[in-house]
Amino acid sequence: MPHDTHRQVSIALGDRSYAISIDAGLLSLGSAWQGLPRAATALIVTNDTVGPLYAADLQRSLSAHYPKVLTLSLPDGEAYKTWETLQSIFDVLLENACDRKTVLFALGGGVVGDITGFAAACYMRGVPFVQVPTTLLAQVDSSVGGKTAINHPVGKNMIGAFYQPERVVCDLHTLQSLPARELSAGLAEVIKYGPIADMAFFDWIETNLDALLQRDPQALAYAVQRTCGGPRRARIGLAGDFEFRSHLWPRHRSGFGFWRMAARRGGGLRHGHGRAVVSPFGLGRRGVY
Ligand SMILES: NC(=O)c1ccc[n+]([C@@H]2O[C@H](COP(=O)([O-])OP(=O)(O)OC[C@H]3O[C@@H](n4cnc5c(N)ncnc54)[C@H](O)[C@@H]3O)[C@@H](O)[C@H]2O)c1
Repeated sequence: MPHDTHRQVSIALGDRSYAISIDAGLLSLGSAWQGLPRAATALIVTNDTVGPLYAADLQRSLSAHYPKVLTLSLPDGEAYKTWETLQSIFDVLLENACDRKTVLFALGGGVVGDITGFAAACYMRGVPFVQVPTTLLAQVDSSVGGKTAINHPVGKNMIGAFYQPERVVCDLHTLQSLPARELSAGLAEVIKYGPIADMAFFDWIETNLDALLQRDPQALAYAVQRTCGGPRRARIGLAGDFEFRSHLWPRHRSGFGFWRMAARRGGGLRHGHGRAVVSPFGLGRRGVY
């Protein structure tokens, strides 16, 4: 494992290709925000938990590139991934006469990323957006792949679109403020991908689990890079989302990875997504989940 935290992953999707930047401190690093589409206005969409922690840093950085930088803070929680919240994003865009070049920045976890991406897909038939994921789950999973959505009372993520971001910027520093339970949820995703397609990465996770739990930036950088840039993402790049969903996703959902991991650790699977992961790795005993 190289001794630095700077990582870059390319998602090859032809004219929809984009880069994932991974490092500690990117929110405040001017160069992380260069080369994005030019526009008169940028809109940061965040939530009431993440905004007070990180929106000012992002606003400062973006002000060097955009004449006007707006911030909209949404209420925090899955319960707000709704039409009403989506409408509040459109309200701000229209009230500020934002045109079709306006760039949206999704600063938060998967909820903010999904709803902001869907707003970007819809507003004026599509405006550019940038994912700035601040949970481990969002950095390794939801910010990459272009799935955007809101919920419907009938079911989660029922209304949405595939819409790729211009860039994904993963500031590892933001993971330091993540509640322990959210860190575990992200580690569950990391652990699932190792056994699915990348056994060398699986071995690395076993060896470096303590460093990940201690939020060591180098370990997190490597885990985010391997999860985003490993065989799973290569398949997205080569074949698009269809193959990923049809070929890997059923195995992913079936608990294939958990099973192999549990067998190695000599642990048993428990009911529930997070517990299935934490039991064999002993995260529960460590008081993390
Ligand atoms: N688009 C996809 O491919 C995809 C994939 C998986 C999940 N998802 C979606 O992602 C959502 C779940 O994402 P999530 O697990 O990130 O949950 P989340 O967005 O609700 O974030 C979890 C909690 O952590 C808080 N938080 C976020 N970053 C923080 C930080 N740096 N410091 C402190 N607190 C922070 C949030 O405010 C929230 O309270 C679901 O809606 C799910 O449907 C989408």
